[in-house]
Amino acid sequence: MTTHQPDLEQTALRGLLQAVSRHLGHDVAPEWCRAAEATPRHRFLPDRIWLSSDDDEPLTPCDREREPDRWFAAAYGDVPVVTQINDGHEPEDASDASPSSSASAPSVVFQMLELLGLAPGMRVLEIGAGTGFNAALLSHRLGDVNVTTIEIDPTVAELARSSLRANGYAPAVVCGDGSLGWSAEAPYDRVVATCSVRQVPYTWIEQTRPGGVILTPWCDDWSHCGLLRLTVGDDGGAMGRYTPDSAFILMRTQRHDLRLFRDVVMDDHVPTESTTTLDPWAVADSPIETQFALGHRLGDLWYAWHHDPDLDGVDTRLWVATTDGTSWAAVDWDGTDNTEHYTVWQHGPRRVWNEVEAAHRWWLDNGRPGPDRLGLTVTPNGQWAWLDHPTNSWPLR
Ligand SMILES: C[S@@+](CC[C@H](N)C(=O)[O-])C[C@H]1O[C@@H](n2cnc3c(N)ncnc32)[C@H](O)[C@@H]1O
Repeated sequence: MTTHQPDLEQTALRGLLQAVSRHLGHDVAPEWCRAAEATPRHRFLPDRIWLSSDDDEPLTPCDREREPDRWFAAAYGDVPVVTQINDGHEPEDASDASPSSSASAPSVVFQMLELLGLAPGMRVLEIGAGTGFNAALLSHRLGDVNVTTIEIDPTVAELARSSLRANGYAPAVVCGDGSLGWSAEAPYDRVVATCSVRQVPYTWIEQTRPGGVILTPWCDDWSHCGLLRLTVGDDGGAMGRYTPDSAFILMRTQRHDLRLFRDVVMDDHVPTESTTTLDPWAVADSPIETQFALGHRLGDLWYAWHHDPDLDGVDTRLWVATTDGTSWAAVDWDGTDNTEHYTVWQHGPRRVWNEVEAAHRWWLDNGRPGPDRLGLTVTPNGQWAWLDHPTNSWPLR
């Protein structure tokens, strides 16, 4: 087993900070460099991590003892490192491995720390302790007493606690559901989530002082991409915009487990038939910026592709459904040169393909907005998405 000497660690850290600076477009601020130097990332990773050679490849275990150099390279790469799969229950089939905890990519960690706009003495609540690395950086900057981190998974929480302790940090590590916040230490100046949400829990707003900031990765059922930075008002609400690009593990308590042929499409459904000129790839295989905007119009719709569905005259089918499973649409391409007309089947109280067509028309009519033109307002009564200005809003299901 290779032992990694301090000079090797220092070289690796320097390379990592350079990669982060390139991502940020400027040097990492001195206070965060100092925090990174005092918080070696490899000391927060478990001996077994999961890596994949590229996005389409399944995750496979990498054990520190067996592959020390690969393990160490992952610790100092500007990449997320998966530290738990399938909530700690390893699947029999490796292709079923799905990340449930990770050390986020360092460039995103430092981007989020910057976006938080921290100052000495601020009190922070982190949702998703994971490895404890981010909580350690926060503790270095703000002091242990000002940092609380919540982790839903007991094994992950215990590991975070012991890694923090072993590296000289002692923020409060709570094992629990972060969607409830942590009222014992409220109010906070900052709440930062490191798992993504499709609904911003209102408790986070209640537990943040007016003028305080909530930063959370955003995802919806159509796409995920973006960090949402909300400022809490003194009217009980919060409002803010997105910074594009970022994909995080979805908050456990906001997961769906919807299967098309188990929960949505039933044998006795008799869908209506029509045609559409809207290319299904234009809405469900378009650039992430487009899908992000469409997701903000579509709210609770999700989609799944079905290639070669073994149906006469159908090469590819796009399924679209509501998250309550009551309405669905299927849009078929026949595999010919025809890219003008597609057959549409719809079932349920909502005409979901008509909703997709309306969202796409809205997107075109408004100059093809990307995430930088969208925003969100959260009140005790719900969430409103908006385009350009909070007055131009619609309720988000
Ligand atoms: C990307 S990882 C966190 C990375 C972490 N901040 C670090 O520095 O390593 C996301 C974490 O959120 C946790 N999580 C998911 N849902 C949660 C919830 N409802 N409450 C608290 N933690 C949650 C996951 O178990 C996972 O450990």
